[in-house]
Amino acid sequence: MSTRPRTPAPATPAPGKLPLPELIEMKRRGEKIVMLTAYDAPAALLADEAGVELILVGDSAAQVMLGHDSTVPVTLDEMIFLTRAVTRSARRPLVIGDMPFGTYEISDEQAVASAIRLVKEGGADLVKLEGAGRMVSRVRAIAESNIGVMAHVGLTPQSATKLGGFRAQGRTAGAALKLHEDALALQDAGAFAIVLEAVPSPVATRITESVEIPTIGIGAGAGCDGQVLVWHDLLGMYHGHTPRFVKRYAEIADEIGTALGEYVAEVRSGAFPDEQHTYAIPDEELAAFETVLSEREE
Ligand code: KIV
Repeated sequence: MSTRPRTPAPATPAPGKLPLPELIEMKRRGEKIVMLTAYDAPAALLADEAGVELILVGDSAAQVMLGHDSTVPVTLDEMIFLTRAVTRSARRPLVIGDMPFGTYEISDEQAVASAIRLVKEGGADLVKLEGAGRMVSRVRAIAESNIGVMAHVGLTPQSATKLGGFRAQGRTAGAALKLHEDALALQDAGAFAIVLEAVPSPVATRITESVEIPTIGIGAGAGCDGQVLVWHDLLGMYHGHTPRFVKRYAEIADEIGTALGEYVAEVRSGAFPDEQHTYAIPDEELAAFETVLSEREE
């Protein structure tokens, strides 16, 4: 197994780490930014080797890793634990620790304290939080504490109940204008990028043209500067609700199911383990062993 120790320190990025300003340069050059979620060290290593720029340790972990039915219950300690695993093996991609519900809403001070924990204890390079309005002030406070912060607007799963469920946002002129204003306010507050989730493609494209920082779309069309998908959705590893914007690039759960089924059947039938998976002992040693045992049993 490969180990890749690195020192988490936002002020002194680890060697080989993608420099944050490169994201803005990519936007300027019209190069797409690839972001993917990951929640453990092997996944982070694979994402790094695939060449993604950003790994998000999303609070989607609540559902896809921890078995909750929403993102709300996951705790900061749990997110730090998962982020720590990812940062142990992600070398080039910038790792973003998602701030869970309840860890930044109360005050700017609470938001900064939570962001610091994700960076110091989790090793995150950057953090992300959801919303605009009062959250603009949280983004400013975190950015002024020298921690890069990604914003997230549109469908914000932590407030899905208030939004009336998991539904697309910005589908009226008024709602689209509000999203546009929110994006500009979050940029002004110091966000380094904005996730646009479940936003009509023309609206996301227009926002992308209006801001200088990159937009990362999920269900927001091809006009965004980058795209993000959840690991388990992309790989077909999650059998819960799958939004229409998910493209499955594999059906890994089916493969795992087939492999596990074969394992169970072979253990039961005695086909596994066979000679190839078993250690040998020289004949004379085995004979000596049997002799001693027989003598003891007499
Ligand atoms: O938690 C998460 O995975 C996210 C992405 C869907 C953007 O916030």
